[in-house]
Amino acid sequence: MGPIGIFDSGYGGLTVFREIAKKMPQYDYIYLGDNARAPYGIRSFEVIYKYTLECVERLFAMGCPLVVLACNTASAKALRTIQQRDLARYSPQHRVLGVIRPTAEVIGAYSQTRSVGILATTGTVVSASYPLEVEKFFPDVKVYQEACPLWVPLIENGEFNSPGADYFVQKYIHQLLAQSDQIDSIVLGCTHYPLMMDKIRAYTPPHIRLIEQGEIVANSLQKYLERHGWMDQLCSKNATRTFYTTENEVNTADKVELFFGAAVKVGHIDL
Ligand code: DGL
Repeated sequence: MGPIGIFDSGYGGLTVFREIAKKMPQYDYIYLGDNARAPYGIRSFEVIYKYTLECVERLFAMGCPLVVLACNTASAKALRTIQQRDLARYSPQHRVLGVIRPTAEVIGAYSQTRSVGILATTGTVVSASYPLEVEKFFPDVKVYQEACPLWVPLIENGEFNSPGADYFVQKYIHQLLAQSDQIDSIVLGCTHYPLMMDKIRAYTPPHIRLIEQGEIVANSLQKYLERHGWMDQLCSKNATRTFYTTENEVNTADKVELFFGAAVKVGHIDL
């Protein structure tokens, strides 16, 4: 038995982890943020895949039977290859899940106009994972995407509340909405983005719904564990939370506390 691993390139996955821990407090969790190498969103497939695999393998080595990629970019670029190629090296009791499919599975319920916008990293947008996945579940829903390459750096550097952030927040939302006046729902398709929700809301017309992934992914994980009782048996339940970063642990602890809403101790790991 072991903890559930939650991975992100940096702090963004905390927006998903927060909801998972709220919904299922009984499990043990290890959160790993690869802050030293964030952002992932602007990197090539090969690099994102390599970095993600290293983090997944480290979480497996720490005893996690199940790892959630709480990162759209890693889910878009690395998940399938890891599932199809790398998991075979491990015992069949190891699993890796992502965040794009759970979001695509429910997206149809949010849109009246059947026109949904996706704000995400360049990597996620270029992969076309959202249009492809949404098509499988809701062929009548049209997906419009806009890459927001500067949002993750603004968030990772703690600048998302500064006046300088406004220009780029407004710019990408405007570019997305210029693609269609039918868009009535926008997915924040990067787990970092809810951290600047107030600013995104301020520049989005009030009739447009902004969709965060945290609760969606938490619901999906809960259902997964209900469906796969054998995996649930492998997930230990002592309600512990452990945080690791590839960056400086003291700086990271301050930020994690800010985003997670509780004091935490962060350990450092080298990859
Ligand atoms: N939180 C990651 C995502 O959901 C951010 C990616 C990055 O590091 O650029 O895509």
